[in-house]
Amino acid sequence: MIIKELKLINHRNYEYENIAFHENTNILVGKNAQGKTNLLEAIYICARGYSFKNLKEDQLIKFGCKDSYLKAEILNANRKRSVEVKLSDSQKKRIRINEIEISNLKELKSQFGVVIFSPEEMKIIKETPSIRRKFIDDIIANNDIGYKALLNDYYKVRFQRNDLIKNRLKNNYFEQMKNAITKQLVDYGSKIAIYRYKYTLMLNEFAKVNHRILSSDKEELSIEYQNNFSEDLVNLEVIESQYRSKLEENEQRELDQFQTLYGPHKDDLLITINDLDTRAYASQGQQRTAMLSLKLAEAMLIEKLTKVKPILLLDDVFSELDNQRARLLVEAIKGYQTIITTNTLLNIDTSKMLGNIYKIESGRVIPQNTRERK
Ligand SMILES: Nc1ncnc2c1ncn2[C@@H]1O[C@H](COP(=O)(O)OP(=O)(O)OP(=O)(O)O)[C@@H](O)[C@H]1O
Ligand SMILES: [Mg+2]
Repeated sequence: MIIKELKLINHRNYEYENIAFHENTNILVGKNAQGKTNLLEAIYICARGYSFKNLKEDQLIKFGCKDSYLKAEILNANRKRSVEVKLSDSQKKRIRINEIEISNLKELKSQFGVVIFSPEEMKIIKETPSIRRKFIDDIIANNDIGYKALLNDYYKVRFQRNDLIKNRLKNNYFEQMKNAITKQLVDYGSKIAIYRYKYTLMLNEFAKVNHRILSSDKEELSIEYQNNFSEDLVNLEVIESQYRSKLEENEQRELDQFQTLYGPHKDDLLITINDLDTRAYASQGQQRTAMLSLKLAEAMLIEKLTKVKPILLLDDVFSELDNQRARLLVEAIKGYQTIITTNTLLNIDTSKMLGNIYKIESGRVIPQNTRERK
């Protein structure tokens, strides 16, 4: 799918702007604080209904204004769609697809696929397990309709179970209640493990290939699902029984620590380069490359599952790459429509690119010369 046009009114530092995109590469070049990331954010909001920055919605509206409006014209399997997002400081967010208001963001996701590569995403490599769980959960939830509800059910049950354990001395029916709630925990938790394992395997396959390409065959990336309650990750009944035993064996520890110690809430993804944990041992450039390989794998997975190529939004990703890796990245993203932000064109080889360059200056978009492939 591709985005043809974007209109922004009072979004962040944009007052009024209309931008027509090229179906291949679009480079937004400009100095710091001009509005490059804000523009990528606007596309992301049209695709997902919310920003990739974890902020209050009214922070997206231009200072001093009461509402903002975004409109994206997209082309999906040759069918034209328009997505409109209206934010207001006094009313709730309104989203329309082809002028019909939608109430569920799921409808939006099925129309408009994007994958964002931003410095924020480096957290997937660098930070705590919860970020990696969110990474894989978002991918699963975007592709499997029931997953979000399953995850919510699990977290609700885990919360109730912790509460029960904490207040057990006041509860005459503690044992019966704990048995019932543990059964639910094991039921939901085991299903989550199967999902996470299956998706991590698919992601690993793509990410490995991408990383070999981006590192000129020098590095072997691996991403592996890790959990603390089951050795088996394929057979639901076996997982359930292992999970149950784990909880039984550690009953006293849980009571002593007043919490549920085993389950998907402790899961992690182990990401390694040449068998070394990227979090601890990889260089800046290697970490950046690993992130790009993973995100590109996410795009490929979306394409495999939905048969539609998502749009790639690359925010300032070239800055830590050497010339060779930057060149290989340009090669790797060729089949996608991409919107790329950068402070300088110096580290991007634009000679083989098919697309447009736009200068971004104080919330204005100034199209530069259009480059066609020679
Ligand atoms: N709600 C808002 N209203 C007006 N301006 C805003 C709003 N939110 C953010 N800005 C401004 O938008 C400016 C541009 O931000 P943006 O993150 O898009 O810059 P950028 O071009 O990506 O810069 P960099 O190269 O440093 O990443 C910032 O200076 C910020 O103060
Ligand atoms: Mg920026």
